[in-house]
Amino acid sequence: MTKTSSFEPVKLSPLACVILAAGQGTRMRSELPKVMHPVAGEPMIRHVVATCADSHADRIIVVISPDMKSAEDVLRPHKCVVQKIPLGTGDAVKAARDELKNFNGDIIVLFGDTPLVTAEALQSLRRVRKDTGASIVVGANTPSDPAAYGRIVLDKSGQLSSIVEVKDATPEQLAIKLCNGGIMLFEAGKLWPLLDKLRNDNAKKEFYLTDCVKLARDAGLSCAVAEMDSEDVMGINTREELAQAEKLMQRRLRKRAMLAGVTMTDPDTVYLCADTAFGQDVVIGPNVVFAPGVEIADNVQIRPFCHLEQARVKSGAVIGPFARLRPGTVVGEGAHVGNFVEIKNSEVCEGAKVNHLTYIGDAYIGPKANIGAGTITCNYDGFNKSKTHIGAGAFIGSNSSLVAPVKIGDGAVVGAGSVVNKEVEKDSLAVSRGRQANYEGWAKKFREIHKHKK
Ligand code: UD1
Ligand code: MG
Repeated sequence: MTKTSSFEPVKLSPLACVILAAGQGTRMRSELPKVMHPVAGEPMIRHVVATCADSHADRIIVVISPDMKSAEDVLRPHKCVVQKIPLGTGDAVKAARDELKNFNGDIIVLFGDTPLVTAEALQSLRRVRKDTGASIVVGANTPSDPAAYGRIVLDKSGQLSSIVEVKDATPEQLAIKLCNGGIMLFEAGKLWPLLDKLRNDNAKKEFYLTDCVKLARDAGLSCAVAEMDSEDVMGINTREELAQAEKLMQRRLRKRAMLAGVTMTDPDTVYLCADTAFGQDVVIGPNVVFAPGVEIADNVQIRPFCHLEQARVKSGAVIGPFARLRPGTVVGEGAHVGNFVEIKNSEVCEGAKVNHLTYIGDAYIGPKANIGAGTITCNYDGFNKSKTHIGAGAFIGSNSSLVAPVKIGDGAVVGAGSVVNKEVEKDSLAVSRGRQANYEGWAKKFREIHKHKK
């Protein structure tokens, strides 16, 4: 058995990857196809495709079921082919035959339900093939709980002789610790004739891809095993396993971010997406969630308990604690977004401050503008969304409602508690609230009248 731990890309023969994703995924108990369930904000199949792309695959083909047209959108530009009926993993590979009939090189078959697979794992299969000349190389692992995995049977000389599926295994075979991680490399020319020989006379009445090993040995071909990390080949069949994979993926993403220069006070409480992008010297407090599509530039501070989604934060900005940046938010250089502030589809320009208890939606906030506590942009009238424009250096007094569409000019001031629905000219003051009236002695008299009620 060969174990390769370090990733040294070697230019080998051409590589095609066939990703199987047409199974029913019944154990997930879901309307959503199994491989479309997200891990770190992306459908799990996308992680597998990304790994194949990182491995410089010349062709990537995904086998989907007829009711998985939604997957084609997330998989573009890669080719999808359809397995009409889920007759087993061996049958699924046949769906890629037309696409690969003239392909010469290595074909790696992997599963769409294995989102933690790495380029290093694929590379190790290729290296074993190169070193041993085996026609089939199987990625094997020794999981702590081997329950549902196919078992790897070695012959007396230690060579791979067959893979037995759990439902077909004898008690002795079930005791085998070495398992099929589900990634198999085939010499292209040998794969198709082996698939034609598969039969479904087994417990699940399926055409098992794993039976190719025994058929290959019977035909005098050699087969080998490449040992890989159990985490890398973890298959997701249930929601519990989905949660475990999420945990492991989060650990990887946090590590990657920290290695790239991000400080996390309590990494275990920071949730990232595969596409979260960070500059250097970003500091993230505890309990921060990054949904998909977030870009954070250098020297940004994100204080505890923030939620960010499809948002861009430029260098030196300070976000939170307790801030929510919704899709379409851009926070400019050195801007501040403070506690209990929600921003959606808006630009907060450099040096602007939106520090307390505010909703900003469909707005432009000019450089160095100051938005007082409790300001609300009233952007929705029940039918239409309208824009608010706040000029550079404008000052919006606390507890103001800006009824969109409305424009506040550069350097203008809005008095606290105003409801503004008309344009405010540059450098002007707008106040729209009842004037204050004071009645001397009124409160004292009021108490006198009512004191017998105490
Ligand atoms: C499979 C392997 C098992 C291995 C395990 C690793 C077979 C027969 N068994 O079992 O040895 O230990 O993975 O995770 O290969 N699929 C199709 N069409 C089908 C059936 C399945 O595209 O007709 C796809 C599924 O969408 C899934 C993948 O193939 O992505 C594996 O299918 P699954 O049913 O999860 O196989 P396991 O029982 O996990
Ligand atoms: Mg599986």
